[in-house]
Amino acid sequence: MSDETPIEPTDDEAVAAEETAAASGNGSGPRRERVGVIGAGYVGLVTGVCLASMGYQVTLRDIDASKVAALNDGIVPIYEPGLTELMSEHSDRLTYTLSLERMLERSDIVFIAVDTPPTYSGDADLSRVMSVVDELEKVGADSRHVLVMKSTVPVGTGERVRAELDARGLNDVGYCSNPEFLKEGAAIADFLHPDRVVIGSFEEGQGDRVASLYAPLGAPIIRTSVPSAEMVKYASNAFLATKISFINEIANVCEEVGADVEVVSHGMGLDSRIGKSFLRAGIGFGGSCFPKDVSALKQLAGNSGYHFQLLTSVIEVNELQKRRVIGKLKKHLGGLEGKRIALLGLAFKPETDDMREASSLVLAARLLAEGAEVVAYDPIVEVSERLNGVGMSGSAEEAVTGADAAVLVTEWSSLVGLDWGAVRGLMREPVLIDGRNALDPAEMTRLGFVFEGIGRIPAHVGVAS
Ligand code: UDX
Repeated sequence: MSDETPIEPTDDEAVAAEETAAASGNGSGPRRERVGVIGAGYVGLVTGVCLASMGYQVTLRDIDASKVAALNDGIVPIYEPGLTELMSEHSDRLTYTLSLERMLERSDIVFIAVDTPPTYSGDADLSRVMSVVDELEKVGADSRHVLVMKSTVPVGTGERVRAELDARGLNDVGYCSNPEFLKEGAAIADFLHPDRVVIGSFEEGQGDRVASLYAPLGAPIIRTSVPSAEMVKYASNAFLATKISFINEIANVCEEVGADVEVVSHGMGLDSRIGKSFLRAGIGFGGSCFPKDVSALKQLAGNSGYHFQLLTSVIEVNELQKRRVIGKLKKHLGGLEGKRIALLGLAFKPETDDMREASSLVLAARLLAEGAEVVAYDPIVEVSERLNGVGMSGSAEEAVTGADAAVLVTEWSSLVGLDWGAVRGLMREPVLIDGRNALDPAEMTRLGFVFEGIGRIPAHVGVAS
C-alpha cells in the first residue's frame, strides 16, 4: 500500500489548522480538530498514522512503556505494509505518550482503540474500555472532548459508556461510535479510501465534528444512532464470514459431485447481487476479527433471547473446514504416523504476521496428534509459542525436503510462485494439498504431484480467471 497518496490538506488548510487547533474549544466556526488515540495497537496505530497523513496533529497514548519507547524511536511494533513509511513521513504530526493527561491536553477528538478480546462465554471483554472511562474521570476530560469508539464493541456498549460518563459527572464529554473496517495487509488503503464511514452519535453536533475529520476523504458518510453504528460493524463481518462458510460448503459438495468451486464461485460472483469478493473457498477464515466478531454477535443475540442459528453453523463449518485437510492427507498417505508434512505459510492470510485464529494452528495440532512430523515455513512468521512441536524451516525448499506431503496453508505470492517442479524433486512423496486454491491443478498434476485443492476437480483445465 506504500504507493497510496495520503490526502494532504492545502497550505491554507494547514495554516488554519494550526491556528484553530489551539483555540479548538466550545467556539463555533472553522476548526481543525486535534486527534488523540487511546491504544496504539493495530487499529489505533493505523487510525493515528492515517489521520496524521491527512494533516491532523495526533497524539497516541498507550500504557505499554516499551511500545511507546519503540514508537518514539520510529519502530512500528506490527507488520503492516506501508505503515512504517507513512509514520516516518508524518512524524512531525505524531506524538506518543504514556500519559492520558498529556494526550487529553493535546486533543479534541479522542479515539478509543483498545482491544475487546472474547471471554470464555464468547462475549466481548469490555474491561479495557471501562478502565479508560475510569481514567478519564480521574484525569478530567471536558466538553472539548468527543470520545470516538473504534474498538469493536457489542451493541449497547455506547449507551452503557454514556451512562458511566454521566454518572461520573462527565456529561459534557461527547461520545460517538465509528467502527473500523480495516483489513490487515491493506489497512492504510482501507482507511484512506473507505467504502463508507459510519458514525453513530447521541448528539448531532458531536457526530458533525467526527464527520468533519473524515470529510477530506470524500467517502459516503453514514450518520446514525450509536446502536445502529455498532451493529453495522458486527453485521458486516458476520455477513462476510457467512459468505466464506457458504462457499466452503459449496466446495465440499463440489468434491462429492465433480464440480469445480472456482468456476462456481466465478459464475456466482458475476451476479451483481452476490458480488465476487469473499467467495474464495479454502481451509477457513481466521484472524483477529471474524472468529471473534461472529461469536460475539451470536452471543449478543443469545443474551437478548434470540438464537442466531445461521451464525452457529457459520462457526461450525469454519471449524470443520480447517480439519478437512487431514482427511485429504490420510486419503493419499494412509495413516499419518511418522509422515513428514510441510506446512507452507502459517499466518492467517498473506501480508501479515498475525497468527490469531490461523487455520495453521489447528492443522499443525491435529497433524501432531496424528503422530506426523510437522515442518513449517512462513515468509514472515518465524516462531509462535502456539506452534510447539512444529519444526520451523528457513525456506520453503528446506521445509519440503524429504516431505511426504506439502500443504499450501497461506497464499503468500512468494509461495504460490515457487518453482513447483523443483519442490516436487525435493519431496519424498508427491502429495500436494492447496488449502487456498491458489495453484493450477492441471499444472501441478503435469509436474507429477498427487494434487488436491478445496472443491476442485483435480486436473480441471480452463478454470475461469
Ligand atoms: C476483516 C474484515 O475484512 C475487516 O473489515 C474487519 O474490520 C476486520 O476483519 P481481516 O481479519 O484483516 O479483516 O482479514 P480478511 O482479509 O477480511 O480475511 C479474513 C479471513 O477470511 C482470512 O483468514 C482469509 O484467508 C479468509 N478469507 C477471506 C477466505 O477464506 N475467503 C475469502 O474469500 C476471503
